[in-house]
Amino acid sequence: MASKLTAIVMAAGKGTRMKSEHPKAITPLLGQPLTSYVLRALEQVDTEPIIVVVGHGADLVKQALGERYLYALQAEQLGTGHAVMQAMPHLPSDAEYVLIASGDSPLVTPEVFASLYETARQTEAACVLATAILEDPTGYGRILRDAQGNVVGIVEEKDATPEQKAIREVCTSFYCFRADALRDALPHLSNQNAQGEYYLTDVIGILAGQGARVVAWQSPDPTLLLGVNNRWELAQAAQAVRMRILKQLCLDGVTVVDPATTYIEPTVQIGRDTVIEPNTHLRGNTIIGANCTLGPDLYLQDSVVGDNCHLFRSHIIQARIDSDVSVGPFAHIRPGTVLHTGVRVGDFVEIKNVEIGEGTKVLHLTYLGDATVGKGTNIGAGTITCNYDGERKHRTVIGDGVFVGSHATLIAPLTIGDGAYIAAGSPITDDVPPESLAIARSYQTIKAGWVRKRRESKQGAGGTNDG
Ligand code: UD1
Ligand code: CA
Repeated sequence: MASKLTAIVMAAGKGTRMKSEHPKAITPLLGQPLTSYVLRALEQVDTEPIIVVVGHGADLVKQALGERYLYALQAEQLGTGHAVMQAMPHLPSDAEYVLIASGDSPLVTPEVFASLYETARQTEAACVLATAILEDPTGYGRILRDAQGNVVGIVEEKDATPEQKAIREVCTSFYCFRADALRDALPHLSNQNAQGEYYLTDVIGILAGQGARVVAWQSPDPTLLLGVNNRWELAQAAQAVRMRILKQLCLDGVTVVDPATTYIEPTVQIGRDTVIEPNTHLRGNTIIGANCTLGPDLYLQDSVVGDNCHLFRSHIIQARIDSDVSVGPFAHIRPGTVLHTGVRVGDFVEIKNVEIGEGTKVLHLTYLGDATVGKGTNIGAGTITCNYDGERKHRTVIGDGVFVGSHATLIAPLTIGDGAYIAAGSPITDDVPPESLAIARSYQTIKAGWVRKRRESKQGAGGTNDG
């Protein structure tokens, strides 16, 4: 029978070293809260429940992390040991093992948790702790071992002697405890140390002192266990997460031309044979189909895109784009836009809250807002929907197979019927019936020879101002 595996994630701290007004746990890393990375890794190893200790900005943190977890409140942040004490009442009485993780270490993988748990079961240790050997261990707790190499404790950087500071094996704040051992040891913690805090790390010394078995699990890849304490570490962690995502996409059949300038959030899905050109940002709840070319220079957020699309050098937010659509360069596609199959959107075109039917072209210098446009319609260069009268927004409805000539000004509310023809340069204020021509402009007058006559009349008057 599988043992009952539970988890505690410590995320109550202020994150003083971030120098921020916001709680560290929800600092965005590639669009997702920092602590959510730890939680996602834990979710993949069958832990139930996952207890998240919150304190600083507790409500904001809970809201950002969601309802899947049990939350324990640590009203005053008196240290990592104190954080775990607050979680203990939420631990089920039949819990056998407790994985403990620091909420600020986003690079951890499910395999790390699985290894800690497996090692705990095989060795029957009271605690398995993940350690790493770092080139520069500054800031981390150091692992103390006796002459036989047994772990006997952890000393925090601020409490360490110069000799202890030279130790390069560090505590990474990932542990798997036997629940009973953890329960028994926590009451023995004291806050008599440099920071006046209850350190979880002291539990290791307490257990070792009682003769309990403590096992160090050394990660083959120390970078998986790195913590984020300041914004430079945040930037480095973001880079590592980003490369992980890009690598997985490549292995799944997506071409990433230049990983260095490609930003794809973990929430984005992309189909096979899609090519991501340099300087492309794909964010939020975005799904991209197969065989598209995205970029160069594309920002696309919270959008769904079909197959065979070519979107480049443009800004697209909350849009639905069907297959075989091209957008760019320099288009701004705003929320509520739906582009059906085969639509082409060209340069300097802004579209907001508009549904555009199959095969319609909007190729140059146009603003369409709050409109419905039919199939096979051509929107000429410089067309503007005047959707706003200073107080309210109004809709423009344009039918199928309409020809809107260049520089038409469509003053909403307005309906243009199927097959209608709008003459270039027309301000259109009234509905246009199907198959009709609407022309709204003053007729041109030609005054033949006007320029010559003016010149001659000036000379006749002895005009001197010819400079
Ligand atoms: C901690 C460890 C250190 C280890 C390092 C690894 C302790 C005392 N030190 O140090 O040995 O090398 O992690 O990354 O455990 N937290 C709370 N409540 C608190 C204090 C902290 O929930 O009262 C949370 C924080 O939000 C954070 C985590 O615990 O997610 C770790 O706290 P942090 O202050 O970052 O500890 P470190 O100094 O990194
Ligand atoms: Ca930390």
